[in-house]
Amino acid sequence: MHPDFVRANFLFMISIAQLSSLVGQEVTLKGWAYNFRSSGKIYFLQFRDGSGHVQVVYSPQDIGDEAWAVLQTVRLESSVIVKGIVKAEPRSPSGFEIQGTGFEAVHIAPDDYPIGKKEHGPEFLFDNRDLYLRSNTPWAVLRIRDRVFFSIEQFFHEEGFIRFDAPILQPTSCEDTTQLFKVDYYDHPMYLSQTGQLYSEAAIMSFGKVYDFAPAFRAEKSKTRHHLSELWMLDAEMAFFDLAMSMDLQEKMLKRIVGDVLTYCKPELAILERDTTILERLVKEPFLHLKHAEAKKILEQEGLTVDHLDDMTTEEEIKLGDMYKLPIFIEDYPLAVKAFYMKRYQDDAGVMRARNADLVAPEEGREIIGGSQREVSYDVLRQEIIDRKYPLEEYEWYLNTRKYGAVEHSGFGLGLERTVRWITGVHHIRETIPFPRMLSRFRP
Ligand code: 4AD
Ligand code: MG
Repeated sequence: MHPDFVRANFLFMISIAQLSSLVGQEVTLKGWAYNFRSSGKIYFLQFRDGSGHVQVVYSPQDIGDEAWAVLQTVRLESSVIVKGIVKAEPRSPSGFEIQGTGFEAVHIAPDDYPIGKKEHGPEFLFDNRDLYLRSNTPWAVLRIRDRVFFSIEQFFHEEGFIRFDAPILQPTSCEDTTQLFKVDYYDHPMYLSQTGQLYSEAAIMSFGKVYDFAPAFRAEKSKTRHHLSELWMLDAEMAFFDLAMSMDLQEKMLKRIVGDVLTYCKPELAILERDTTILERLVKEPFLHLKHAEAKKILEQEGLTVDHLDDMTTEEEIKLGDMYKLPIFIEDYPLAVKAFYMKRYQDDAGVMRARNADLVAPEEGREIIGGSQREVSYDVLRQEIIDRKYPLEEYEWYLNTRKYGAVEHSGFGLGLERTVRWITGVHHIRETIPFPRMLSRFRP
């Protein structure tokens, strides 16, 4: 068969997502039976095809005895082909129902499908992640993840960025050296990427504005619902940008992402029973800005015991989100708790501070973006690398960005899963990535 013919055929395959334009017509759909129930002479098939969910209603007089008999053999997650007339059905979540006119089994699954007969704990579901992917919650969450990814790609191209991919195997640390996964690279020690940032900084000297989107790895032994060992990170880097310009760009990006999810992922948000009040609000309202020192004071006044010179804790970030119910840029952390490459200044109290901002999302979203203006001085940066006992020879190439045509520049990194967890409202970050890698999980 000619490949064009196969492709044309494929394009004409109808999916549940297209039903709204097919009311009154007879359609054929290919997919899976995710549930079924029979009441006397009517059979209700809960059917999904990847693009959505719909109920198909069968009676023997409509499909004939033979197809009716096959229907009785269906078990959970059998693959099937259904035929029927599309009807508008306001009471159904999809808005439609199909009056069955034909039925064919592709593969009848055995009777022991492990998921769905009773409530399962998360460990069981993630031990069976390959099958759990078929359930409603993962389906909805991972489709929103796809939308976020797509919106980000679109946004950056519209803003004049080019995609620039950093290597995953890296000889240096960018963030915190204690978070590295070491790899044996032809007898030479290498590390799995924590971020593409250092390479993006070299790239902007050629391209002006770049972004990358890639897996990042964190070996910190954090066992929380906000931490993954393998995550996906967007890094953006812009020449001739100060921190204020970078924060404006982040705000525009986040409004775009959330706006797109609200527009294009209504069925998914409905499955997740997500209250979208705050999401709708933040698309319209300006985000908040707080200095780190101010934020700590506010939290202290709220009765928390705070360390004024430390990073924000989980509890503190969640508290701020609850108080303000909008995304908050927290600016100018003590340099000592931040990465080596950040632009620094001494505040009135004599504390060295970074010109940085973490974006904290409301509704327990926590820090979803970390970013900063970058230190431009060759000498300052070189000294910082030495003071932190990093191997200077491995950073010589990076220091070239400060040696040849150095410019003020800024950048940020967004954690895809943190962002998706916040937008979808799921409890644990493991729900937001197809096959999670965490301290306590690396299978399947
Ligand atoms: O704040 P981080 O460590 O910043 C960087 O890596 C910078 N180099 C980014 C840049 O300026 N280009 O990480 C960025 C984001 C965090 O805000 C968080 O959303 C996410 O990555 N992240 C994690 N997500 C899940 N699990 C972890 N262990 C994460 N570590 C960071
Ligand atoms: Mg951070």
